[in-house]
Amino acid sequence: MKRLAFLLTFAVLFPSCLIMAGEGMWIPMLLQYNEKEMQEMGMRITADDIYSINHSSLKDAIVLFGGGCTGEIVSDYGLLLTNHHCGYGSIQRHSSVEHDYLTDGFWANDRSQELPCPGMSVTFLREMRDVTSRVLEGVTDDMDEADRQSKIEANIKKITAEVEKETEYKVSIKPFFLGNEYYLLLNEVYTDIRLVGCPPSNIGKFGGDTDNWVWPRHTGDFSIFRVYADKDGHPADYSAENVPYKPAKHLDISLKGAVEGDFTFVFGYPARTSEYLPAVAVDQEANLIDPITVDLRGKILDIYNKYQEQDKKVRIQYASKHAGLGNGWKKWMGVTEGINHFHGVEKKQFFEEDFQNWASGDESRAQYVNLLGQFEKNYKDLELFQLAYTYVAEAGMNIELFSFAGKFAKLAQVTKETPQEDIDKMIASLKGSAKSFFKDYYMPIDKEVAAMLLKEYIKAQPADFRPAFLNDIKDVDEYVETLFAKSFLVSEESVNAFLDGFKAKSVKKLQNDPAFVAYQSIIGFYRDHVYPSLASITEDNQRLQRIYMKGQMEMQPEKRFSPDANFTLRVTYGKIEGFKPKDGMNYRHFTTLEGIMQKENPDIYDYVVEPRLKELYNNKDYGRYADKDGTMHVAFTASVHTTGGNSGSPILNADGQLLGLNFDRCWEGTMSDLIYDPSICRNISVDIRYVLFIIDKFAGAKHLVDEMTIVE
Ligand code: ARG
Ligand code: GLU
Repeated sequence: MKRLAFLLTFAVLFPSCLIMAGEGMWIPMLLQYNEKEMQEMGMRITADDIYSINHSSLKDAIVLFGGGCTGEIVSDYGLLLTNHHCGYGSIQRHSSVEHDYLTDGFWANDRSQELPCPGMSVTFLREMRDVTSRVLEGVTDDMDEADRQSKIEANIKKITAEVEKETEYKVSIKPFFLGNEYYLLLNEVYTDIRLVGCPPSNIGKFGGDTDNWVWPRHTGDFSIFRVYADKDGHPADYSAENVPYKPAKHLDISLKGAVEGDFTFVFGYPARTSEYLPAVAVDQEANLIDPITVDLRGKILDIYNKYQEQDKKVRIQYASKHAGLGNGWKKWMGVTEGINHFHGVEKKQFFEEDFQNWASGDESRAQYVNLLGQFEKNYKDLELFQLAYTYVAEAGMNIELFSFAGKFAKLAQVTKETPQEDIDKMIASLKGSAKSFFKDYYMPIDKEVAAMLLKEYIKAQPADFRPAFLNDIKDVDEYVETLFAKSFLVSEESVNAFLDGFKAKSVKKLQNDPAFVAYQSIIGFYRDHVYPSLASITEDNQRLQRIYMKGQMEMQPEKRFSPDANFTLRVTYGKIEGFKPKDGMNYRHFTTLEGIMQKENPDIYDYVVEPRLKELYNNKDYGRYADKDGTMHVAFTASVHTTGGNSGSPILNADGQLLGLNFDRCWEGTMSDLIYDPSICRNISVDIRYVLFIIDKFAGAKHLVDEMTIVE
């Protein structure tokens, strides 16, 4: 196999100069190929210390936390650290007016006070195996895609069934390198997870959405959980009989801090990157789609801000919507800036010229010769549908009245034949939806957002390629006035009145409701005119991507490739360093408590500082958690390639000891999901010493620190 040839070649040649330090999310079981470079950069442990199936290794301390974050075990009693924003849902679920743990924080004084979190789970990777040759058995280059897919699926099923017989672990097989390689994962999932502690939000979320994605940063973004197991150490659902999980390995914690220039690595679960796209795809994303979304969302956020500033209740009602929209808005702004500033599209084009020459250079490379041309054509064809999708999604989701109307789609299908029992269920569930929807609904915002989005929609999308209801609108402002005046979906009372009196013939009223009409029109347009082409072109692009990936590897046999992130455990490494995002700006690699005091503003929610924290600051009462410069370090940056899902991941030093928890990236470098550039891409972590300081000095929960292994 070519793959094997490629592995053998680079095992022999091993040119460490070919890879840019920082780039790449590496498969732990193949880390021996990076070991030399990592050690040259300063690492003092071995690849085998990081991942091994023969003895305990760092991997035994790393978990997928819930479905979207990373966590790490830091004691022999299953104590787990992750981000505050990863534990947020669990913290919120335990919060009430009497016990507002989001605002006040929470600290269990002993194990009996730890709070069970039903629905939460953590997943340990026990073993990984390369099953590429078996998954691709019987697959040939000239097979059509459907046959290929069904062959692969059948093989996966067979292998999974076989392995399931010999193991108690959960078996899954995932594609890597865009379908050129397949790895089998043996996972163990623990479901008795308990909340142990979290700081108040004005520490754990300090800076809020204002500072999100931004350096300098001062967020104490951590929370503490504990994993429980049955008395034999096996996964078990919550039970009072369960005992703290005893890991094969827990992470040691270093108090030395993050020193500029030092080697560092992050071990966790990055969700998704696309580093091997052709130039046309990057161009389309960074210069067409992202700017439209950024523009629309910027306008929505302006409207939110205006009303949120006027009214405290509205500020709370729209806080989480603001956070959700704002997270993407700021990130995509950074993607476009970064790609253009660093000539990402041109760099890809240069590479493609080489690739084209290489492909044309030998008959055996025939399958690669037309690839780039096909990409060009596909992305050109895709443009119309991508744009249509963008407007459908932004208008359909962000005009709240429309997205709420969407919840009634099933009810609108009711006929005289529908069993009453089913109808009752729908009504009960819709009442629940209405309750939670209207709790956080402020109509003046939605009206203004609707008018703005519809105007933008009509301006941008051609009359013959947009939802039909838009073409019946003569004046958007008038339409919006009538829409909100006539629709019964605008208030909980009128919705409940409708639901209480619901009969099969009420369906007519629903179908005539202007908000429901608009929703149907948007969805119908998407289903009939956008989705079919979007899906078929995307599917073809996936096929091309797979072949293009194979070609890139064949063309550069001496280069080490790292597969795109796919929510599997990865190691990624770089250096502790600051950066210079723009002319005249030079960012130091760390921040201190000093900065929290500088940002303090009792009138701005995101910048309120706890009195107790101020007291500790004034007394410089940092104990052993102070840096040797005497200050309390809060956060630091490094040139480590991370993405969403790496939240909560441990960032470790050359000895594999914990330095901090990864929680964000700098927005200037968010293009790293498409192209990594070591000069601009930085991940942001909270310093573990600040975490311990908050636990010990701020919260007085020293018993938790005592459970950990601290290396002074
Ligand atoms: N930008 C970070 C991540 O995607 C943190 C998001 C949560 N924090 C916040 N302030 N909204 O995803
Ligand atoms: N905050 C992100 C997360 O929740 C990590 C930041 C990033 O995208 O790098 O996973």
